[in-house]
Amino acid sequence: MHRPLIAANWKMNKTIGETEDFIHSFLAMIKDVDDVDILIAPPFTSLSVASSLLENTTVRLAGQNVFYEEKGAFTGEISPSMLLSAGCSHVIIGHSERRQYFSETDEIVNKKIKIARKNGLEVILCIGESLQEREEGKTFDVLSRQLTGSLKDVPLEGLTIAYEPIWAIGTGKTATPEQANEAHAYIRQWLRDYGEGSERVRILYGGSVTPENIKSLMAEPEVNGALVGGASLKPDSFARIINGAREATV
Ligand code: PGA
Repeated sequence: MHRPLIAANWKMNKTIGETEDFIHSFLAMIKDVDDVDILIAPPFTSLSVASSLLENTTVRLAGQNVFYEEKGAFTGEISPSMLLSAGCSHVIIGHSERRQYFSETDEIVNKKIKIARKNGLEVILCIGESLQEREEGKTFDVLSRQLTGSLKDVPLEGLTIAYEPIWAIGTGKTATPEQANEAHAYIRQWLRDYGEGSERVRILYGGSVTPENIKSLMAEPEVNGALVGGASLKPDSFARIINGAREATV
């Protein structure tokens, strides 16, 4: 059984001051948690202060994105070594908002994963189908295409997959636990067929996760954790999600 991983994706939310306030309250709420891995992905501007405040805790930090070059004339971009030096152990790559608004293709995602892994960052790769693709019965084809393109020549070590159906992100429309489990089971089998280390890869569900639905999602055998957007922005809501995940997996 996998140790659950509950990750917060703050997206473009929180100033430095708001980050400090969150972390102060949140740490008091989760001080007894030692059986769930917790990760927060704040905006880049908050990483440094978050890293100082989280020193000597088990909460880890992720970047929400990374560029696929080490350094140079790429105005506005962030390199893997910058993330590492700001205190990140992880980076989220290929989020559907990056694909949709910033035209990230599987080929770009693949380049980003490679440079992140080369620098020792653990990667959370996001994949998932649109509503139209689901309704047309293409969910597994889409997942397979995204996995094949994103993981080309990438070993599975240091990798987490986040299954995030686009129709469930920020919409309040969660996948049912059965839908999530079915997609995760497909991904798990794809990883087994792909190569070594597949059993160590955790598969997270993302898309309108809340304190109310986390338990039923985590009760599914193939759901190893969650990537949480909106409901991770308030300390008590995120802490309740973490506690729900613990209760579901004892
Ligand atoms: P949501 O976002 O929880 O607000 O739906 C999840 C995500 O995009 O990672």
